[in-house]
Amino acid sequence: MQQQRLHHNKFNATTDTTPLQPGHDMTTLWDPITVGNMQLSHRLAMAPMTRSRAHPDGTPNELTAQYYTQRASLGLIITEGVQPSDDGQGYMNTPGIYTEAHIQGWKRITTSIHDAGGYVFMQLMHVGRMSQPDNTPHHRTPVAPSAIPPRVPMFTPTGMQDTPIPRALTTTEIEATIQDFRIAAAAAIRAGADGVEIHAANGYLLQQFFAPNANERTDTYGGPINNRARLAIEVATAVATEVGPERTGIRISPNSTLGGLDEGPEAADLYRYLVDQLAPLNLAYLHLVHDGNEELLGDLRKAWPTALLVIRPGRAREDLAMDVEQGLADIAPIASWALANPDIVDRIRSGAELNKCDRTTLYGGGAAGYTDYPTLETAAGR
Ligand SMILES: Cc1cc2nc3c(=O)[nH]c(=O)nc-3n(C[C@H](O)[C@H](O)[C@H](O)COP(=O)(O)O)c2cc1C
Repeated sequence: MQQQRLHHNKFNATTDTTPLQPGHDMTTLWDPITVGNMQLSHRLAMAPMTRSRAHPDGTPNELTAQYYTQRASLGLIITEGVQPSDDGQGYMNTPGIYTEAHIQGWKRITTSIHDAGGYVFMQLMHVGRMSQPDNTPHHRTPVAPSAIPPRVPMFTPTGMQDTPIPRALTTTEIEATIQDFRIAAAAAIRAGADGVEIHAANGYLLQQFFAPNANERTDTYGGPINNRARLAIEVATAVATEVGPERTGIRISPNSTLGGLDEGPEAADLYRYLVDQLAPLNLAYLHLVHDGNEELLGDLRKAWPTALLVIRPGRAREDLAMDVEQGLADIAPIASWALANPDIVDRIRSGAELNKCDRTTLYGGGAAGYTDYPTLETAAGR
């Protein structure tokens, strides 16, 4: 515990050398923190959430600026997954960041979030095999580490459909994919984002490379742990070189089985290796979707030199502050509660009731279930 606290204080660049007093050094959700270039006033953040409301060409919807701006009190807003290329899309109406129209669309959003005092990191999400050609502009076969389908049905314009057998990327195409991430990161910064979060979690392309049941490659991107981790490390290095490590974050979800993945018995070792390799890059943050392997969380915490964001999906409200207070995390991001409560920060601070998340309006549609969730103030008719 003492070691964690010291680690934590080191990260906060505290220069005060007075010995810590019992009870005086516990970080709370309401303590400020510097992450990358951002001065955050508390330890909450908005986790990335796909809402499938973009135009068919990937330009964000006009309502999206309002949706995020309503939630600017969360401080750091991590956007929904945004495809870095047309091959990176899998779901209907997700936004992109690879054309001039995308950049102009996002500029309105980032400007509006900044005007409201928030920061915004754009999540770069390449879905790999988690794709249905009917949902993409080019209708091509999805790409993946290997030609192994996820066997997960997906919503399309004609209803639920199977995801097809993907095509294995060639080694040359992997190089092009890394460049797509790099160029998309630069585009996100041009669009006014404070940084980008590389999506290496939840069953999408980069995690597909981690999982032996999705990656049977025999080149330098398949086989042993270091090969399976290689693409994520190369993407992170390319993005950090392009836009700066202080503008680069990365999200991982050790042991997630989303998208049909099974990372096998070496999963924890792979993540220890991955984080050891990423640590010297000094990225703005590591964002961990935590599955409950506490030993791994402790190890990654010790190995990671900058901010650690930890989200425990579906945790109880009384457990929200736990990791920050125990020194295991610096920030506790929230997803569905933030979706349903634009004033979630006030509600958590004051202990107020939360609006329920309407699952029928999560994806697609217009303002309903997007920009019309009430705040405490609007609910009271003020
Ligand atoms: C509607 C919805 C869309 C999501 N889309 C994404 C996404 O685009 N990228 C991502 O990394 N996670 C996504 N997630 C996962 C969340 O970021 C988060 O990890 C998960 O919902 C657990 O947090 P919670 O218990 O606070 O909801 C999504 C979650 C929801 C509810």
